[in-house]
Amino acid sequence: MAKAALITGITGQDGAYLAAFLLEKGYSVHGMRLYEATPNTQRLETLLSEYPEQFHLHYGDMTDGGMLTRLLVQVRPDEIYNLAGLSHVRVSFDLPEATANINALGTLRLLEAMRILNLNARFYQASSSEMFGNAPAPQNEKTPFQPCSPYAASKLYAYWLVRTYRDSYAMHASNGILFNHESPLRGEEFVTRKITRAIADLVAGRSDTLRLGNLDARRDWGHARDYVEGMWMMLQQDRPDDYVLATGETRAVRDFVEAAFTAIGMPLVWNGAGLQEKGLCRRTGRTLIEIDESLFRPQEITCLCGDAAKARTILGWSPKTGFDAMVHEMLTSDLDGVCANDHPERVPDVYVAG
Ligand code: GDD
Repeated sequence: MAKAALITGITGQDGAYLAAFLLEKGYSVHGMRLYEATPNTQRLETLLSEYPEQFHLHYGDMTDGGMLTRLLVQVRPDEIYNLAGLSHVRVSFDLPEATANINALGTLRLLEAMRILNLNARFYQASSSEMFGNAPAPQNEKTPFQPCSPYAASKLYAYWLVRTYRDSYAMHASNGILFNHESPLRGEEFVTRKITRAIADLVAGRSDTLRLGNLDARRDWGHARDYVEGMWMMLQQDRPDDYVLATGETRAVRDFVEAAFTAIGMPLVWNGAGLQEKGLCRRTGRTLIEIDESLFRPQEITCLCGDAAKARTILGWSPKTGFDAMVHEMLTSDLDGVCANDHPERVPDVYVAG
């Protein structure tokens, strides 16, 4: 019989890629989504029409323990992927209590429901490299955590809970400590997609400048499609464990911006310093980037760079998509989405460097 998987947070980027991956493997996939007056299922529409028998959506909420228990009784999943959460680090400073309720206590509610029901499912927890905070890079499973946002603290609570339930109740529960992973399906409030989407708007003549926060923060950016495969690999192991997934390469936000503008033939030159710094088009001198103080976080994480040696050795996982190919894919998708209908003559060729 086909395996059943339950994915919380199905409407997000990772939910969409993971659902596609599992449906392709023949799983029956159940996705939990929040009730919203305007449904947020755009990323799933194609899958829903391609797999009408195999793919099911359920309303649910990580703050409702009774509902989570009923959903587990109804679905009886073999595998649970807990991807639901408030995932924006900056926003978690404004909504710290909601962040803890959803990310930390939500995971507790789900694990408790499994325990009460004696459900013999394998459990994946979306842990985050954000938990490392400003611990020196490269970070791996042995690096001491130093969370420095309400988001990171909530994820750390959930991380330890997974380990506690694994050790206390012999549950097959694993943490994937994922470094940043992006794609054309990334939310537009995260910096990479904000940049590629803004470039498409600039090309279409819909906006003039892109406002950004800290250009010097460094992140380890991979492609979400590769990372969901790693999630699945963790649950196929005989023994549950915790794994870092990362590319091992780190770049500054500034590098991402430069790569994206160069790829559409508008290389940048930087002028000024601090909040007065600007990114100008090297050819025309037009201001394309400005700094916005409100986009900085109360505490910034300077450098994330993961060491995924354990995942490589034990899971056989490694990222397949390189940085330039990922930037190319995101830009192409946004340029097609924004400009192709209105201004097909303006869509520039996007090239991959190197
Ligand atoms: N969002 C955003 N918007 N970030 C900006 C901006 C801006 O305008 N300008 C600069 N940045 C910087 C942020 O300060 C941060 O250092 C970096 O860009 C990346 O920000 P995000 O894309 O928002 O991602 P994140 O690193 O904070 O968190 C993401 O990755 C985590 C894994 O490490 C999220 O996906 C988290 O949910 C995830 O756990």
